[in-house]
Amino acid sequence: LHVAIIMDGNGRWATRRGLPRVAGHRAGVAAVRRVVESAADLGVATLTLFAFSSDNWRRPPEEVGALMSLLQTGLRDELQKFIDGGARLSVIGRRDRLPRGLQQAIAEAEATTAQTSAAGHRLHLRIALDYSARDAIVQAAASWEAGAPPSRERFEHHLRQVLGSGEDRSDVDLLIRTGGELRLSDFLLWECAYAELWFTDKMWPEFGADDLRAALAEFHRRERRFGGVPPPPLALAASGGRGGA
Ligand code: IPE
Ligand code: IPE
Ligand code: MG
Repeated sequence: LHVAIIMDGNGRWATRRGLPRVAGHRAGVAAVRRVVESAADLGVATLTLFAFSSDNWRRPPEEVGALMSLLQTGLRDELQKFIDGGARLSVIGRRDRLPRGLQQAIAEAEATTAQTSAAGHRLHLRIALDYSARDAIVQAAASWEAGAPPSRERFEHHLRQVLGSGEDRSDVDLLIRTGGELRLSDFLLWECAYAELWFTDKMWPEFGADDLRAALAEFHRRERRFGGVPPPPLALAASGGRGGA
């Protein structure tokens, strides 16, 4: 199961409390920890977290700087826990505009947890950083081999190369957005083609394992049809009235 989360609302959470926005980002790190720690037990195999969008560079430099250093210390401090918990970590998005120290922390975290994954990891945690779905799609198109016939599988291969995310299945099953906004903000546009969407008014620092559990419970109640028709009632299926699955 692949769950992706747009972790929104840190700034508003802080502002409402009379705190600087950066305090909201700090509280957001604690929410990340809660969610990552509970994800595997709730049946999540891949968890993709939107941590910084390519449009977030538009924010005041002090806020951007604070986010970058929170990401860097977060990666360093949590690394041992990822390893102990059997998680594999990768970062999707552009690397070249990130501060050098953060680039190194990413490389280290990926290299160290790639080894744990050899023994079969419990969770693949993907952090989207300086990520733009449209940019990724354009890059994947630009890396197309001249003359190669178009195909979805080949395109997805290129997309994963561009994102540096390995060869895991990339389709999102459940997309969660906190913070009350009902939009995608350029996150995983290709991968969310058939994702189930789940929104909450809770701000990201308020989000916890129970909220993830609630989102997953609703996900499992939904009927995914992928353009087909609903499955036949059980009695009909058992009588052999229809062939196929
Ligand atoms: C999400 O919270 C975190 C990032 C975008 C890095 P915001 O910082 O967008 O919080 P709001 O939406 O302003 O409340
Ligand atoms: C999306 O949130 C990006 C992240 C959560 C990292 P934004 O707060 O940047 O999105 P908009 O600006 O409200 O669309
Ligand atoms: Mg926001």
